[in-house]
Amino acid sequence: MNVMTNPTALDVERIRRDFPILKQTIRGKPLVFLDSAASAQKPRAVIDAMVNAMETQYANIHRGLHWMSERTTEAYESTRDAVAALMNANDRSEIVFTGNSTGAINLLAHSYGRGVLKRGQAVLISGMEHHSNIVPWQMLRDAHGIELRVAPVTDAGELDMAAFEALLEDGKVGLVAITHMSNVLGTITPAERIVRIAHAHGAKVMFDGSQAIVHRKVDVRALDCDFYVWTGHKLYGPTGIGVLWGKRDLLERMPPFMGGGDMISSVTYEQSTWAAVPHKFEAGTPAILEGIGLKAAIDYVQTIGYDAMAAHEASLTEHALARLAGIQGLHILGQAQDRGGVISFSLDKAHAHDVATLLDRQGIAVRAGHHCAEPLMHRFNLDSTARASFGIYTTHAEIDALADGLIRVREFFA
Ligand code: ALA
Repeated sequence: MNVMTNPTALDVERIRRDFPILKQTIRGKPLVFLDSAASAQKPRAVIDAMVNAMETQYANIHRGLHWMSERTTEAYESTRDAVAALMNANDRSEIVFTGNSTGAINLLAHSYGRGVLKRGQAVLISGMEHHSNIVPWQMLRDAHGIELRVAPVTDAGELDMAAFEALLEDGKVGLVAITHMSNVLGTITPAERIVRIAHAHGAKVMFDGSQAIVHRKVDVRALDCDFYVWTGHKLYGPTGIGVLWGKRDLLERMPPFMGGGDMISSVTYEQSTWAAVPHKFEAGTPAILEGIGLKAAIDYVQTIGYDAMAAHEASLTEHALARLAGIQGLHILGQAQDRGGVISFSLDKAHAHDVATLLDRQGIAVRAGHHCAEPLMHRFNLDSTARASFGIYTTHAEIDALADGLIRVREFFA
């Protein structure tokens, strides 16, 4: 590996020591983990918080009057405060916990889609969405007569803003549901502009921030969007916990999605009444340990700071784009001006799965396939790409290992 000095303020070697999994070798080679966009590794602080909860303070929450339940409830509910602060929400009651981003979007599609949007209105997505921000809206379309519109993506992999605005012009779009950062192209969408244009045409806006919140400070009040969803496991937290943030008045207008315990105020056989937001949307025993782990992840990220994380990622991305551009026969998908640390590519004569397998033999983990974004693949006449994605623990030397590894793959296919 060519070792390059890390030019940012972030002390990557110190950070790497916080992630036990990164100490491993794979087939005698150091693990080069370049698949953080699929799911990020977990720092010791998250692991310890969850183990500690299981060992010292675990009971079901919101239900018991006993000490252990109260302590666990406090720990779990403090995550809601941490999430509200992370996103600069107005109030902790605007934070709804879900299983992941998919759960959050499905909640919105069912509740806002069926309960607030009217037949004949439209939902506008973009051509670079993950399946989780396509399929729930298709289901809504088919069940409820809501039109589904798709704003196209340019050859550079950016949102076509003129076409986006034109699709809003007739005033029928009730909700714009769009990614804040593409999990395939790395493109950061112009969120402020999207909100301004959508609001001017009477549409609410939801961002899928699954990728963006890992790389950028998200301030929902500054953005003035209406809903924002993300998932814990990409932000160095556990799987099984995600977030739906919504403006409180909108959440209050929305009917519950799932019925059950914890989401009610009272129940008789004749009728039930709902708990206040956010609990109205949180039926059943939640992911208690995962919620506690998510708080530790947020604290960890906040200690490092978004400025340092973003600078590190920009430096890694710039280095990776430069190294990959030098590899003959390698094509990078998307050249957005504003982009994060996710790079999809194809190699002449080699299928993406073969590229990933041959990299894996060198200890380098990348994702290959359609990345749950088949329509975007079709837009570029592809069925799959390989994808490298970076986290706070990624080093410049690992990018060099990827580039050197790809040169070997190319030689193999030549
Ligand atoms: N959405 C995740 C990815 O892009 C799983 O890999």
